Amino acid sequence: MAKLWGGRFTKGTDKAVEDFTSSIAFDARMYPEDIAGSKAHAKMLAKQGIISDDDCNAIVEGLTTIKQQIEAGEFEFSIGLEDIHMNVEKRLTDAIGEAGGRLHTGRSRNDQCAVDLHMYVRKSVVHMGELLVDIQKALVEVAEKYKDIIMPGYTHLQRAQPVLFGHHMMAYCSMFQRDFDHLGLIFKHADVMPLGAGALAGTTYPIDQSYTQELLGFSKIYENSMDAVSDRDYILEFLHFGATVMMHLSRMSEELILWSSTEFGFIELDDAHCTGSSIMPQKKNPDVCELVRGKTGRIYGHLQGLLTTMKGLPLTYNKDMQEDKEGIFDTIDTLHFALSITAAMLRKMTVKGARMHAVLASDFSNATDMADYLAKKGVPFREAHAIVGAAVQHCIQNRCVLLDLTVEDFKKISPVFEDDILEAITIEACIKGRKNYSGTAPECVARQQQVAKTIIAEEEKQIETWHTIAFAVDSL
Ligand code: ARG
Repeated sequence: MAKLWGGRFTKGTDKAVEDFTSSIAFDARMYPEDIAGSKAHAKMLAKQGIISDDDCNAIVEGLTTIKQQIEAGEFEFSIGLEDIHMNVEKRLTDAIGEAGGRLHTGRSRNDQCAVDLHMYVRKSVVHMGELLVDIQKALVEVAEKYKDIIMPGYTHLQRAQPVLFGHHMMAYCSMFQRDFDHLGLIFKHADVMPLGAGALAGTTYPIDQSYTQELLGFSKIYENSMDAVSDRDYILEFLHFGATVMMHLSRMSEELILWSSTEFGFIELDDAHCTGSSIMPQKKNPDVCELVRGKTGRIYGHLQGLLTTMKGLPLTYNKDMQEDKEGIFDTIDTLHFALSITAAMLRKMTVKGARMHAVLASDFSNATDMADYLAKKGVPFREAHAIVGAAVQHCIQNRCVLLDLTVEDFKKISPVFEDDILEAITIEACIKGRKNYSGTAPECVARQQQVAKTIIAEEEKQIETWHTIAFAVDSL
């Protein structure tokens, strides 16, 4: 296949080299951004008198047709043409002749691939924002649906203190809200235009970067052409964001797996979200959770991979940088499935409050409250801790729990105990008492839900603003 850059070559490219260096298999998905970027560039060239209006019109119309052909599945991508940029340009030139050959005036694939990816990431931020909002909503819904359920809270995976199930859910909601905040910085850095950098040094043509900036809706233009074609920081920020979201999802998946085991028996996942075993007829496996947990590994890998790719690269463009794409595309696709299926799974799961209550009734999750009871009556906390520790030991030896003791037993343990001790350490009392700002008391968890809803509403407004900026290019 004749190359668009073939002038100085006397031989064709080795087939294996074509296969190895081509990126069309994965960068074809940037066709809308490539076409938008080219239309804006052509319009700018015409406005500046660098190409004629007729050429510009032919280019814009030709690109519109190519977009339709791609969307209709009528466009045959060629590995020999390397990437989306040259596939589109070659087809354009075949279709409209000379004018197509003028499109690449004052431009390089280095600033072209950068501007495409910037636009692609802007759109992806919108997509990720929508997914994060949905999972936050799912968590608030589930917290409300099961608002009366009390479960054991854990440290070291040992039962620690009772918490509201909703409190546990809202902890995850907070994580996804922090993840959303990361999107703000990613959008800011993606919303800078590299076009006009040329290969690296700028261009001798009288281009107007402010005009392409305006057409493509970028907030800023890179100050430095060398930085413009070398920068992959916004991709790394996206990969870091993806890794953190997956870490959060993976922790949640781990809990859902544990909770749906017979040993815990705290929840049941919907049949639609589980799979069976080919040999053991009784099995109902939480495959989705396992796969979310499992895929976290490769998303971390994408971040580590690109950091390593970038670390030794001299300025400016190096072909190594083509490796920026598969990682981020796979991160986007993985997050799409992981976030949307997890949200659906949360909405459909059944929470077994009675089982959680029974578990709490058979353990020492109320021991802190018993110590607090003494401390509030003047016993130094360390002393109270030791007294309750001894009581727990006594119960373990007698195969009972604290609430099995009588008021008389308590008074023997310490004369400070009064008749109200049994009410003071019920599971419900443990929850109700923790009414500090971030505590697990029902009114505090309800407050968290209100705050979360306010934040979600702000996020939705933010997404609308991003959407307007990021998707305007599709109607160029
Ligand atoms: N496919 C290339 C990439 O994604 C496009 C840029 C190629 N530029 C070049 N001078 N070979 O990085």
